[in-house]
Amino acid sequence: MLKTPITPEIIDYCQEHGCRESSALKELRAETLNLPNAQMLITPLQGAFLKLLVEMVNPQQIIEVGMFTGYSALWMASGLKSRLNPEASLITLDISNQHLELAKSYWRKAGVDNQITALIAPADISMQRMLDSGLVADMVFIDANKAQYLEYYELAIKLLRPGGIVVIDNVLMYGQVLETNPDKNYIKTLQQLNQLIRDDQRVTISMLPVGDGITIARKKEC
Ligand SMILES: C[S@@+](CC[C@H](N)C(=O)[O-])C[C@H]1O[C@@H](n2cnc3c(N)ncnc32)[C@H](O)[C@@H]1O
Repeated sequence: MLKTPITPEIIDYCQEHGCRESSALKELRAETLNLPNAQMLITPLQGAFLKLLVEMVNPQQIIEVGMFTGYSALWMASGLKSRLNPEASLITLDISNQHLELAKSYWRKAGVDNQITALIAPADISMQRMLDSGLVADMVFIDANKAQYLEYYELAIKLLRPGGIVVIDNVLMYGQVLETNPDKNYIKTLQQLNQLIRDDQRVTISMLPVGDGITIARKKEC
């Protein structure tokens, strides 16, 4: 049942009334918009949602899969900062260090750089290493190579403590998940993942049409 149609005007309205983007976040987003692939950024509304989730979950350990210019990391680290939890840490993963210095400059500006560690390697390898080292996460945010989303999800579930949450971006992929016979393999992967999560009794779920679609899955206690 459609209640309010999600038009661009409605999204602007939500952004104006349901999101507080700090000056550091605004500047980083503006700078990122000049780069190729700027559309990869999460939206400010998604960022505000992630920050609120961080404040609610109060994680000691967050893992972000897909750093880019560090915008979503900055939103989540702002949540750690407002919980006054200097021991909490965010590890962000990316295959490329192309934008690492830009990201770090904004993390410093916002005073959260000491809580963020970037690991540059294929994310599945970093996640497997963290698992092998016994690291336990309270929250995982997935936003990297769409073709590997099934692997990232399974690794995230293993890394999470019971009660921890995984948040997955791009679950609607510009609406292409509605295609019946998609040509692109990564769309098929997203369709498979959405079905798998829907039926996955290990988690409690909610899929929201915010930005490009977000699923939140909480790992059950038993
Ligand atoms: C959608 S962007 C992340 C955007 C970021 N979460 C934000 O909104 O600020 C995806 C990132 O995943 C990275 N990436 C792509 N394939 C990867 C892989 N196999 N392992 C790790 N990172 C990868 C890309 O380099 C890119 O920076």
